[in-house]
Amino acid sequence: MAHCFVTRRLPGDAVERLAHRHSVDVWTERIPPTPEQLRSRACEAEGLLCLLTDRIDAGLLDGCQRLRAISNLAVGCDNVDLAAARARGIAVGYTPDVLTETTADLAFALIMAAARRLPEAIRAVHAGEWLTWEPDWLLGHDVHGSTLGIVGRGRIGEAVARRADGFGMTVLHSSRSSGVPLPDLLERSDFVSLHVPLTTETRHLIGAAELSAMKPTAFLVNTARGAIVDQAALERALRENVIAGAALDVTDPEPLPPSHPLLSAPNLIVLPHVGSATHATRERMAGLAVDNVLAALAGEPMPHEFPA
Ligand code: DGY
Repeated sequence: MAHCFVTRRLPGDAVERLAHRHSVDVWTERIPPTPEQLRSRACEAEGLLCLLTDRIDAGLLDGCQRLRAISNLAVGCDNVDLAAARARGIAVGYTPDVLTETTADLAFALIMAAARRLPEAIRAVHAGEWLTWEPDWLLGHDVHGSTLGIVGRGRIGEAVARRADGFGMTVLHSSRSSGVPLPDLLERSDFVSLHVPLTTETRHLIGAAELSAMKPTAFLVNTARGAIVDQAALERALRENVIAGAALDVTDPEPLPPSHPLLSAPNLIVLPHVGSATHATRERMAGLAVDNVLAALAGEPMPHEFPA
């Protein structure tokens, strides 16, 4: 029997399955452990099941000499220093595939919400501004028949493209190895949806120059990672009507404080990183994350080890 630290309560019965085989310590607060709290609890553990809000860096790993398995409850692993983990022989697992369709649903919801001004329309009803049917009130942009630019065509990008087909959209994509060059995609798209992982190459991939390359009627949608967009540049672009709007499920930092200047920019929707937040998907993510820990602690390959 090994000892595991799980850095948050998880939906479903995944933690019970883990506790069936190993001793389990679960962080039960809603607010994540501080780096010090994380270190003091993880240093006891051979298995660590963590979240994208937990920074797993070389310093932490140095203090966790017993650790044999890190299982991240996410498909993105930018919160884990993968090289440092590998150098210490620690397997790192992640939760791909199970959240693809759910996240693509949300990306599409953001496209629709931004194009058709849904948050504004809902607010107007609650504020008593719905006086009558008006021919020129709350006019938005058509999604059907428009052009969608998908930046990064992995699993989630593909799933968004399938949805776009159903709306009769023209789909462009741009990735490292295929598609159109990013500047062409930005120039031609009515909606630009980001689906790349956060790496040193993609940090601030979308900055002032890229936003200026977009049509003034275009929308930016980000369900990937906040730091892929230079947020200060986005805020300026929104205030100066360089683009028509943006819809973000991810920000930098997270959470974005309510007083953050970005939140007062016009034509902006911000969600609290809920791309994979459905009952079924979060339960499946928790299940995969536990499968990864169980396998590694049994000396077997993780079913979903983060690729080298
Ligand atoms: C991930 O898995 O990387 C998402 O951002 C959260 O589901």
